[in-house]
Amino acid sequence: MSEMLTNINWYPGHMTKTRRMIETDLKLVDAVCEVVDARIPISSRNPDIAALCGQKPRMVVLNRIDMADPAGTKAWTEYFRREGAFVLQTDCKNRKGISQFAPAAQTLLRDKLRAYREKGQTGRALKLMVVGIPNVGKSTLINQVAGRKGAKAENRPGVTRGKQWIGVDAGLLLLDTPGILWPKFEDPEVGMHLAYTGAIKDDVLDTEELAARLMELLWKKYPDAVRARYKIEDPETEDGYGLLCAAGKKRGFLISGGEVNIERMARVLLEEYRSCKIGRFTLEDPPVQGEEV
Ligand code: G4P
Repeated sequence: MSEMLTNINWYPGHMTKTRRMIETDLKLVDAVCEVVDARIPISSRNPDIAALCGQKPRMVVLNRIDMADPAGTKAWTEYFRREGAFVLQTDCKNRKGISQFAPAAQTLLRDKLRAYREKGQTGRALKLMVVGIPNVGKSTLINQVAGRKGAKAENRPGVTRGKQWIGVDAGLLLLDTPGILWPKFEDPEVGMHLAYTGAIKDDVLDTEELAARLMELLWKKYPDAVRARYKIEDPETEDGYGLLCAAGKKRGFLISGGEVNIERMARVLLEEYRSCKIGRFTLEDPPVQGEEV
């Protein structure tokens, strides 16, 4: 699974280089803004983020809330807050939550601001950087927060670049290129969850297996929505392939001999899940109180 996991060809050398670059950038900033996908807040996180950031104040941005279950987003927000993180909910597609970025950064860094004031450094800007795994919405967030169209940040780790700062608000600067981190790709479930959301390209995965597993998960978590969309009433089985087959039959996806065209149904399920036609779903639940993600 590991080689399938991202459009970046991560290998130990890359990871070391990326880690060093982020460590260098971290020295320049007062706080870190970690972007995660609200649909899969566990799988879209970097496993080493806490160690990388050390004592730096951190803000968790739950992005793509337009695609996630609002109840899930609320539960995750509460979870991260309980863990002591500062949380911002955003939908970068529709600019929701963007205006909260600067006030959130100022609140996150209020002690620093107070210290600056006490030293008479009232004009001194706060500096932040955005980090996250590929495709989580980092560039879109930076562009929206900065109010620019902007080119997409280079999605290759280890690319040499000059440091540029974007003025966000009076007294707030953002590093214009995000820190690109790797997912926890040794965990096969993380790989599947990233694949469901489309963060990994389909052509390297077995579409039928992926769709069958997604179907099983959706059936467990959101049975009413799946029932309504695919007109599956009382399925003979709750196994993913069986459910895919039942859905395909209802859609009339048949091949010669009357068998269901599972492959077609698999592609349809993935497309309809990714475009939120079945509903807005959060695939991962926050761990029980006190447990680390
Ligand atoms: P990255 O820098 O972390 O790699 O991610 P990037 O900003 O390039 O975003 C990846 C894709 O996710 C983009 O779509 C972007 O528009 C979309 N996206 C980012 N934030 C949100 C959000 O909050 N909601 C939704 N629905 N989508 C979001 P794309 O298909 O690659 O490009 P395009 O459709 O914008 O042209």
